[in-house]
Amino acid sequence: MPYPADAPHSQQLFDRARAVTPGGVNSPVRAFGAVGGTPRFIASARGPFLVDADGREYVDLVCSWGPMLLGHAHPDVVAAVRSAVGAGTSYGAPTRPEVELAEEIVDRTPVDSVRLVSSGTEATMSAIRLARGVTGRDLVVKFAGCYHGHVDSLLAAAGSGVVTFGLPGTPGVPAAATAATLVLPYNDRAAVSAAFAEHGDRIACLITEAAPGNMGVVTPEAGFNRFLAETCAAHGVLMVSDEVMTGFRVSRSGYHGLDGDGWRPDLMTFGKVMGGGFPAAAFGGRTELMAQLAPDGPVYQAGTLSGNPVAVTAGLTTLRLATADVYRRVDSAAAQVQQLVGKALTEAAVPHVVQAAGNLFSVFFVKDGDEAATSVRDFDGAQRQAQHRFRAFFHAMLAHGVYLPPSAFEAWFVSAAHDDAALDRIAEAVPHAAAAAAAARPDDEGPG
Ligand SMILES: Cc1ncc(COP(=O)(O)O)c(C=O)c1O
Repeated sequence: MPYPADAPHSQQLFDRARAVTPGGVNSPVRAFGAVGGTPRFIASARGPFLVDADGREYVDLVCSWGPMLLGHAHPDVVAAVRSAVGAGTSYGAPTRPEVELAEEIVDRTPVDSVRLVSSGTEATMSAIRLARGVTGRDLVVKFAGCYHGHVDSLLAAAGSGVVTFGLPGTPGVPAAATAATLVLPYNDRAAVSAAFAEHGDRIACLITEAAPGNMGVVTPEAGFNRFLAETCAAHGVLMVSDEVMTGFRVSRSGYHGLDGDGWRPDLMTFGKVMGGGFPAAAFGGRTELMAQLAPDGPVYQAGTLSGNPVAVTAGLTTLRLATADVYRRVDSAAAQVQQLVGKALTEAAVPHVVQAAGNLFSVFFVKDGDEAATSVRDFDGAQRQAQHRFRAFFHAMLAHGVYLPPSAFEAWFVSAAHDDAALDRIAEAVPHAAAAAAAARPDDEGPG
């Protein structure tokens, strides 16, 4: 039996929340704004399942937007965190687990040295400051549709041309903050070459998601990351590979582990999995670059809770548990979900494209008339979606006990805890959701 469409306890909490918090949520996408209806307030989670305030259980395909690689409340992570909390929660002085987490990151990735921070936003903001400080240049290149946190200079919308200086993507960001940001179409080598030919000696860094997951999953075309690295090197520009989402999730060493043959970024950013569900993130790079940071160098960067011992313990325990077998299980669960969803949508004649970058994947609901589309390569393509079909699909999945990202522009996440019980639940839900997507009409806004 599907769950009822209303969710009275979540609704009550949402009403209270809206009275005291903007939009009732502490991060916008949680509000169900893109799909309509009442966001589910979560009471607890274990393994692949969430339980909401109305006592309903869902298979979780959000996994906290990436961090929960091992599933929720992994007993070893919980035990390690309990023990860390008992030893005091913050000292404002260095600790052994910080050293060990930095060593673990350096061991798994191409960086030699890392600075720990508390969020992915802080990581990318700090990496850009470092790049500007080291190069003495101001311009930053980013790709339309890539998200790197809510850093002023990166909340830049593309203008109308192919190579455009950014316009503020939100009120509150001064035009001056984005005027030094060049926004380019993803996967477009000609646009990159043109921008570097014209502005190369003024560009401090190019920042890119190692594999974009914030416009849905868009795979870098073969050799694109290497091309970016080579183009940057030729112009003395630092390449910042943002692995906040992909790092330690799509492989032991992140997307670079799948795509990094023979090239390496100058700087990298990490977050999500490395915090094990707590606020921890990092940026890193070659020793001589990182040495330009305070206290050794002149580029200032700091944080009261950076390297917080509880967060670091959760992250370190998670990474140590993230063995080859864990990645095999995550990869296999991701492949099975893609297969189940693809099959159900095909059988219901819903035009769609499933795209994956390692075990990170998403489903694009292709517009009627665009059935021939076989891949989405950039933000323009991602925006040509039949969002009404996604909304209908989302709500039918929710009613059948599967919690998807509440937006057509997000990656779907699984964990090593997504076992047969979780996959069976998804298999039962998808035919209903595919039928709902097939029946959806363009003016369906979702529940009010
Ligand atoms: C690729 C990427 N970079 C940076 C961020 C920002 O991280 P945070 O939300 O921890 O600030 C995100 C968040 O989703 C992300 O996906």
